[in-house]
Amino acid sequence: MAPNQESTARTDDVIEKYDEYVMPIAKGYDPFSIERAEGTTMVTADGEEYLDCFSGISVTNAGHNHPAVVDAAKDQLDDLVHTCSYVYRNRPVADLAEKLAEITPGDLQKSFFCNSGTEAVEGAVKLARKYTGSTEVVALEMAFHGRTLGSLALTGNHGYKHGMAPTLNDVTHAPAPYQYRSPYGDCSEEEFAARAAAELERVIGTHTSTDLAAIVVEPVMGEGGIIVPPADYLQRVKDVAHDHGALFIADEVQTGYGRTGDLFACDGAGVNPDILTQAKGIADGLPLGAFTAPAEIADAFEAGDHLSTFGGNPVCCAAALANIDALRDGIVDNAREQGEWLGDRLAALEAEFDRVGETRGTGLMYGVELVDPTDGSGVDGDDSAAPAPTSEAAKAIQTHARDEHDVLIGVGGYHKNVLRFQPPLTIAREELERAVTAIEDGLGTIG
Ligand SMILES: Cc1ncc(COP(=O)(O)O)c(C=O)c1O
Repeated sequence: MAPNQESTARTDDVIEKYDEYVMPIAKGYDPFSIERAEGTTMVTADGEEYLDCFSGISVTNAGHNHPAVVDAAKDQLDDLVHTCSYVYRNRPVADLAEKLAEITPGDLQKSFFCNSGTEAVEGAVKLARKYTGSTEVVALEMAFHGRTLGSLALTGNHGYKHGMAPTLNDVTHAPAPYQYRSPYGDCSEEEFAARAAAELERVIGTHTSTDLAAIVVEPVMGEGGIIVPPADYLQRVKDVAHDHGALFIADEVQTGYGRTGDLFACDGAGVNPDILTQAKGIADGLPLGAFTAPAEIADAFEAGDHLSTFGGNPVCCAAALANIDALRDGIVDNAREQGEWLGDRLAALEAEFDRVGETRGTGLMYGVELVDPTDGSGVDGDDSAAPAPTSEAAKAIQTHARDEHDVLIGVGGYHKNVLRFQPPLTIAREELERAVTAIEDGLGTIG
């Protein structure tokens, strides 16, 4: 549908109200307002259709408005909207908690429900403190764990912290497992994992009391630029944590619910976390977060240690139950299958274009790191031959894909130079092909 006077006025109205009444925290919005969405398609107020390859920042894993999720939410709305699930029990919370015990890795059993990823991370840290009796936490440089003052302390990126200090005390950061810009020179994946674990030990030994509550790690670092660690890295981190009496917290807010081609990235890595944080894809867009732990750890919480008014909202929990069924009914398999094809296609772009420093990912969580091939200066602390990052190229290709191909892709990474490809996991091969063509065309255009 081509824009007409009426729809353009509707869009302008939304833009004006955003300018006037919404706090100015976005770096720049796309020039439209989204009115509807279904599957992989988002439709603007002007009736323009876009292929969504970012899923509202990796949230609508089962596709926008999955019918079973919408129906479950609607049915629950008719019966019960709110009780405060920690004052009056209700069935959706009970059933979802039981379901999470079934589907999460290892012996994770008891869940606390909240409303977002940042709350899940902060709650997990509180539980780790309670269980271990220690307070100090180690996270990774370039990590993203949220923006409220507790999780912001764990986020390893100064860009999010300007003007916000002090945040939570007792957080120390160790280098990220970012082999493309390795601080350890050229080495095999196995050597890199060993060096990264040794560096983690060194940081703990020099910057902490060594009595830790937790080490918090994203199994694949999303906002940091889709950084996939070497195969045995997570197990090494868990071992280091346990050597220090600490818990290993896997922050699967972004990687969970099928994103990496497994229901949880820890499943793929064969590592059982002590606490697993979840949000984003858990309810296909309804606001819900959770952290889940084995009974022995979970029972360290005593009455009054934690609570959330809206956490475990019955409507969101009912939606999550339907979402999990849908994901397990072929959608995660699709992510794995399409991801294998996508990885090969992106690798071909890496071979063809000097602009592409590296393509990396798993499942339908892929990053395309863009570089300036004429600038070999790299970045500080980087002992690799990787050229300098270029955020301008990433922005230009993102805009090109949107304006010329009606394809929406994300941009992220510590250096803001990584195209983020995280579509609904229901995406079809032809749609993927269209998205890769948009990137390829964009690369050709920017030269
Ligand atoms: C790994 C990870 N943890 C935590 C968060 C914070 O989640 P939320 O924005 O729901 O608070 C994010 C958000 O991007 C994330 O990617």
